[in-house]
Amino acid sequence: MALSDLIEKLELLKTKAEKVLKEAFDQASIEIFISEYLGKKSEIQNLFKTLKDLSPEEKKEAGPVINTLRDELQKKAFAKRDQLEQAALEEKLKTEWLDVTKNIPSEKGSLHPISHIQREIERIFTSMGFQIADGPMVETEWNNFDALNIESDHPARDMQDTFFVQNDGNDSQKNTVLRTHTSNIQIRTLKEQGAPLKIIAPGRVFRNEALDATHDAIFYQVEGMMVDKGINLSHLKGVIQVMLDGIFEKNIKTRIRPGYFPFVEPGLEIDIWWEYIDKDGVAQGKWLEFMGAGMIHPNVLTNGGVDPNEYSGFAFGFGLTRLAMMKYGIEDIRLLFSLKKDFLTQF
Ligand code: FA5
Repeated sequence: MALSDLIEKLELLKTKAEKVLKEAFDQASIEIFISEYLGKKSEIQNLFKTLKDLSPEEKKEAGPVINTLRDELQKKAFAKRDQLEQAALEEKLKTEWLDVTKNIPSEKGSLHPISHIQREIERIFTSMGFQIADGPMVETEWNNFDALNIESDHPARDMQDTFFVQNDGNDSQKNTVLRTHTSNIQIRTLKEQGAPLKIIAPGRVFRNEALDATHDAIFYQVEGMMVDKGINLSHLKGVIQVMLDGIFEKNIKTRIRPGYFPFVEPGLEIDIWWEYIDKDGVAQGKWLEFMGAGMIHPNVLTNGGVDPNEYSGFAFGFGLTRLAMMKYGIEDIRLLFSLKKDFLTQF
């Protein structure tokens, strides 16, 4: 091809390409343009191939002309692609957006009463320097029972009370249960932290119970422990008094009785004096069982790797669900997990 023909072709190509590009209206048509006008099989590439028929001087003249046209078309195509992309995005933003300051539902969510009281308990105990500990709900039979001095024939291990997850044989280190109390935390924290320690552990526990107004099969407990040199029952009494007065925002009268739990010695039950107004509007009072407690049994300290000759400690456990019922005057435990919005949003 003669040089003059080539130049003429390039000019025609330029006019045609610019027209096509100008008319391209979406991203897809730009992609087609790029492939047809700039791709491997495009006319411009073919024109590059015809350079070999020209003399060296003509090549010098024609080469830059083709290059310039290719670069120019490429630049224009890319710019148009960006412009169309931007326009498409703007179009999307016009329709697909959400004004988060408008249409907020007038009803706000609220904390569950158990969460409320759990936070209160945590606040009071952390102010006394206690840490919050946590542990698994699926626990080895050993941590839930054996390590706590609860022998294999103890009634609490009866299948009636305990949900077994895995129970195949006599190996209590391998068998697993849904923990029946938060006392599984005792052995775990003793092993993990050693002495001295000051922890509480709120959490969910499970028992195969007959359900009624005060018993659920899934409920919440709080375990507490303080281990150090010279810890005795007066420390327990003081800590519990601070907690109760803090929760009920008044001085609460307590009563301590002997109680039996295999993992504490001596074992105690702590009752609280509960004042209320009866149906006839008369002020009444009665003792309510509130928690189990005592000095941690030397066997438990030993199982947790702490020397009972050097350290002593108290432990306690109470029902957080029952405490919420007392604090908020809830008469039936089943309401707490009833999903009744009217009831739950009162707190
Ligand atoms: C225990 O579970 C012992 N681990 C407590 C303990 C810890 C004693 C540390 C000594 C040292 P008990 O089985 O009594 O003890 O349960 C403790 C509390 O859990 C009860 O006082 C009660 O408030 C609550 N509770 C027990 N069963 C249920 C139930 N089915 N529904 C709701 N709350 C329950």
